[in-house]
Amino acid sequence: MRTLFKNIKELLQVRDRDVRFVSGKEMAELPSIKNAFLLVEDGIIKQFGVMADCPEAAVENVVDATGKIVMPAWCDSHTHIVYAGNRESEFVDKIKGLSYQEIANKGGGILNSAKKLQETTEVDLYQQSKTRLEEVMALGTGAIEIKSGYGLTVEAELKMLRVIKRLKANYSIPIKATFLGAHAVPNEFKNNKAGYIDLLIDAMLPQIAQEQLAEYIDVFCETGYFSVADTERILEAGKRYGLIPKIHVNQFTSIGGVQAGVKHRALSVDHLEEMTEQDMEVLKATQTMPVALPGCSYFLSIPYTPARNMIDKGLPLALATDYNPGSSPSGNMNFVVATACIKMKLTPEEAINAATLNGAYAMGLENEVGSISVGKQANLILTKPINSYGFMPYAFGGNHIEQIYIKGEVLK
Ligand code: NIG
Ligand code: FE
Repeated sequence: MRTLFKNIKELLQVRDRDVRFVSGKEMAELPSIKNAFLLVEDGIIKQFGVMADCPEAAVENVVDATGKIVMPAWCDSHTHIVYAGNRESEFVDKIKGLSYQEIANKGGGILNSAKKLQETTEVDLYQQSKTRLEEVMALGTGAIEIKSGYGLTVEAELKMLRVIKRLKANYSIPIKATFLGAHAVPNEFKNNKAGYIDLLIDAMLPQIAQEQLAEYIDVFCETGYFSVADTERILEAGKRYGLIPKIHVNQFTSIGGVQAGVKHRALSVDHLEEMTEQDMEVLKATQTMPVALPGCSYFLSIPYTPARNMIDKGLPLALATDYNPGSSPSGNMNFVVATACIKMKLTPEEAINAATLNGAYAMGLENEVGSISVGKQANLILTKPINSYGFMPYAFGGNHIEQIYIKGEVLK
């Protein structure tokens, strides 16, 4: 089946397929074609160019995109969309002035979500999670990473990962799974963190590997959660089972997590709200993608990742939602892109690069999605008629998307 998009006002993010990610000054460039066509065949981008070169052969579907922009769907490289219930009551505690740590200390936080998840059946968890997946796809997400980490027992972590596996089987966008057993220390191991790490390494990891439930391994490397030494131990174990590190670091404190990530060749280091000069320096000229999560900074009222400074120093950057019940209960990449422009001083070009091509790289999908390149999946956003792509982050909170295409087909 073929679909031809004609008269596209501007076709964004057109690249050779071998561009893996962009860094520093390159991030300011968003290659595009004005008055363009795009031909999709069997879900794959087949050809594109200026309208003067538009193929004339008959195709099954023609979309007239006059006045509209076509671009790659968002690539959300960091989410926790498999969870049970929500934490609206903590939201009120937060409004009344309690900090993230104070809420966790009084029985809220990750352990609260873990309790709910342990009590939820796999069938119910799947239903709750699929609703969120469909919600974010309708908002333009065309590739996503999903983490475990609200189970914290062998059984419940496996339950989460099996739900992710079912989502992979039932939805046509690329989904990557990350094992985040080291998200918090469960109450049963309150005074025996090493015992919990043993369980994670000796019982969870072998089963996950056997059932092929995850591609990545994550750790919440943070004061009061897992130390750098804990993190290194867990990453080393994960690597023995073929899992690639992708870690939570520097959300509240800078304790050496970025350095541990680089040392273990993490695909990405995520959060980075607290960055020292050394943290930025160590990321230079590595293959590790820094990932900022502005929805979390917004929701928790914590600092934003110093992304302007990082890009000015020549670093790459990806943007993701961190969609989860505690620190970012939103999976809206349009909001993330707008907030990166408004609060982190990224230009629209930088933010779009960070939320498409670099996001794809941050989940190992740079060969499949994230740019308009021949051979990549046709996961696309067609905007409403708008003046320029800059209008999307500028007019924040509005819906500027007319239609989403997944593998070339209209998302219903
Ligand atoms: O990425 N910081 C660690 N994990 C999540 C939040 C978890 C929660 O509060 O439920 C995050 O922000
Ligand atoms: Fe997270």
